[in-house]
Amino acid sequence: MKIGVMTGGGDCPGLNAIIEAVVKRAEKYGYEVFGVLRGYAGLINGEIKKLSVEDVHGIFNIGGTIIGTSRVNPFKREDGLQRVKENLSNFGLDALIVIGGDDTLGAAYKLFQQGVSVVGVPKTIDNDLSATDYSLGYMTAVEIIAEAIERLHTTARSHERVMIVEVMGRYAGWLTLMGGLAGGAHIILVPEKPFDIEEVCNIIKQREEKGKRYTIIAVAEGAKPSNIESFITISKERDEFGHVRLGGIAKVLEKEIAQRTGKETRSVVLGHIQRGGAPIAFDRIFGIKLGIFAVDLVKEGKFGYMACLKSTEIVAVKMEEALQQKRVSENLLELTSFFRDT
Ligand code: F6P
Repeated sequence: MKIGVMTGGGDCPGLNAIIEAVVKRAEKYGYEVFGVLRGYAGLINGEIKKLSVEDVHGIFNIGGTIIGTSRVNPFKREDGLQRVKENLSNFGLDALIVIGGDDTLGAAYKLFQQGVSVVGVPKTIDNDLSATDYSLGYMTAVEIIAEAIERLHTTARSHERVMIVEVMGRYAGWLTLMGGLAGGAHIILVPEKPFDIEEVCNIIKQREEKGKRYTIIAVAEGAKPSNIESFITISKERDEFGHVRLGGIAKVLEKEIAQRTGKETRSVVLGHIQRGGAPIAFDRIFGIKLGIFAVDLVKEGKFGYMACLKSTEIVAVKMEEALQQKRVSENLLELTSFFRDT
């Protein structure tokens, strides 16, 4: 048995833990593993190389992905599907483990529907896939965001400023809510709940009246003021999966808040720092478990399934169900104001 393993979409901490586990589990069964380089680009161009246990030994705690990644969509490339099928056959790959977020796994599901033996593994710091309690990389990103916000408290307090922290997550507020909460942000703005800038300013003023002379705001890149229809973007240009580049909301807020409250205001964009570096212990262990489970799914011939975390167990969920989006639920939204008066 020859298994291809591929990482697609934005990288995240923990991917190498999956890769190490895939290769080591496969070796146990006498299977060979081939790394597909740069996501779907490698599958289209035939950039595929054998991965030995020596190649992957001890990479579980290193950030990024040793096989590279891209946002290439095989269904948006000329003859993409045909070339993917040709390369799978040329390299004799019997199965493909695709590690990705909703875009990469969505394309993987289409490949499955076209007869490719696919197993999916969820990774994205955005945590926006419904069938899994967490996606790989999310917990590490929350940790990074929390630490960054915690650090901002001391400088914000010293200068009696408003500090706005822009957090990734695309259209989901998980990173902002949980990172913001863990970092003690006073105001948390998520895409799931459009906000009124005047109201945000009133909270800052009320805090001021109570002697709380600094305020930390965590804002999701996909959060929107209620009077604005479209997302704030860095670029309207769409990638091969149809996404614009979100970003800029913190700068917009910085200007508005400074003008309306008279408070010194600064904004910080955490950006790709949230995706870089080593995975925390949770994502190392999670990645290893996911990799082992994915190879077992291949062994059982359970294609078209995704490895998902349910409570403490990894279970197989049909890809068509697993690809549903997950947003911050109504009952969690009250956490956005947990530290409002502190
Ligand atoms: O999907 C993961 C993510 O980090 C989003 O939170 C963010 O909007 C996007 O990727 C950034 O993409 P890129 O790495 O292409 O700039």
